[in-house]
Amino acid sequence: MSEQQQNQNQNQNKKKDKPVKASAEPEIMEKIVSLCKQRGFVFQSSEIYGGLKSCYDYGPLGAELKRNVKAEWWRTMVHGREDVVGLDASIIMHPDVWRASGHLAGFSDPMVDCKDCKNRGRADKWPQTAVGTEVEYKVIVDHQSGKKETRKAAVGPLGIVCPVCGSPNMSDIRKFNLMFRTSLGSIDPIETISARLDGKALSGEALKTAIADAIGETAVYLRPETAQAMFTNFLNVQTSMRMKPPFGIAQQGKSFRNEITVEHFTFRSCEFEQMEMEYFVPPPEYTSPGERTDMQWYEYWCNERLNWYSSLGIRKEKLRLRPHETDELAHYAKACSDVEYDYPWGWGELEGIAHRGDYDLKQHEKHSGKKLTFFDSQKNAHYHPYVIEPAAGADRTALAFLLDAYVEEPPPPGTNEGRTVLRFHPRLAPIKVAVFPLVKKDGMPEAARKIVEQFYKHQINAAYDEKDTVGRRYRRQDECGTPYCITVDGQTAQDGSVTIRERDSMKQDRIQIADAVEVVRKRLA
Ligand code: GAP
Repeated sequence: MSEQQQNQNQNQNKKKDKPVKASAEPEIMEKIVSLCKQRGFVFQSSEIYGGLKSCYDYGPLGAELKRNVKAEWWRTMVHGREDVVGLDASIIMHPDVWRASGHLAGFSDPMVDCKDCKNRGRADKWPQTAVGTEVEYKVIVDHQSGKKETRKAAVGPLGIVCPVCGSPNMSDIRKFNLMFRTSLGSIDPIETISARLDGKALSGEALKTAIADAIGETAVYLRPETAQAMFTNFLNVQTSMRMKPPFGIAQQGKSFRNEITVEHFTFRSCEFEQMEMEYFVPPPEYTSPGERTDMQWYEYWCNERLNWYSSLGIRKEKLRLRPHETDELAHYAKACSDVEYDYPWGWGELEGIAHRGDYDLKQHEKHSGKKLTFFDSQKNAHYHPYVIEPAAGADRTALAFLLDAYVEEPPPPGTNEGRTVLRFHPRLAPIKVAVFPLVKKDGMPEAARKIVEQFYKHQINAAYDEKDTVGRRYRRQDECGTPYCITVDGQTAQDGSVTIRERDSMKQDRIQIADAVEVVRKRLA
């Protein structure tokens, strides 16, 4: 499911994201957050000014991790396939894009939230019931099993009940701003507003309308999803690249949402990166015999996306595909499933795979007046392709990889020193190899520096470390998730060999310096 639909006025609830293991969360999350700061993965934004709620900066290792996540996604979704091409669209788009997509509605509509199932909708469209009427409704009491309980309550002063669960427990009515609004143009809208209202004695609704009109003239929005640019560019991409359905357009980039609830570190924040793909397929009447149908493509992408996470090391038992119940689906969606991860606070969305029918292309066609169809020359007909959309978040994916990689190992028998390891898949690891001299003498630092230079020369991210005992250096790299450590020792000067230690097994082999780059490169492949 689209998480923004939860924030808009679609008929679904937020049960999937509700914490169910609150007791386990603080401890593990505190450790992860602290490790992230200590090892340079993630810092609080503007920390020296006291920080900014839910804004984060990726430090040197976090930036590498996120880049690796995005690179792996691009490799799989674009470079590894003939039928998917990439796009890098602007963050600010024509405001009509958001009118067509429905995102702008919340700026002017009176919105209300159901306090029980978290459904959000337009107060003026929800079922009206006489104030004080006692109604019965169902509330989910166990989010893991989906168990519901029947309750009774009286309808409040707004006189409305939730169309999804029937609850009369409502938030206040408010204008909900999912999107960040800014203005395009060199004149500050405050100047326009003050000039226009100067000397006018307006109040209440008239004043609001005058201000909204003045702001609206130059208003633009930071995109709340990357998806819309792939719909607006459907024809540009299709014709310039001579694509024929089934084909996909993929994009990665920043999205911004004024989230009401920001939570769980980088899991949900107001500024985040998405990795989305819109896969255009022929609708059933244009599918040739023997080709995958739209529903088969939907199932295909559900499985592809689920498997992608396990192929990069996430434990299978921590992943699941959760098909949406009918009442969770957006009105236009034919089907939707979430790839979920078992976070410390319970199962939650990693990625949503939605079958969006032909809704988006038709919406943009209606609002722009431009035809957005594909011409099938064999059938001599124009049609609107259906869209299957796998939509993931780079920050959330990086967090899931981080959480899944985090292991605290007890001390081995006979010792009293355990270790914390980030067991990243080598392709995701921020630093691929660390090079140490065993001691800071006998030419070992010089030899180690020569080796690390070789890695830099081959653009393999490497680190040199000579501080503290070699044991402590290994521990440090384990905490960074570095898969290989190479150590120059007493034998190196005699036979040109070094040790290479593997992070997870801690097994050490001897290899020749001359082979070091090739050995690491092969293990990273
Ligand atoms: N175009 C569909 C769409 O945007 P979504 O479920 O709203 O769907 C897709 O977003 C993915 O983007 C989510 O599965 C999640 O990984 C990520 N995402 C959404 N909102 C987020 C937020 N506030 N913070 C971090 N990641 C978010």
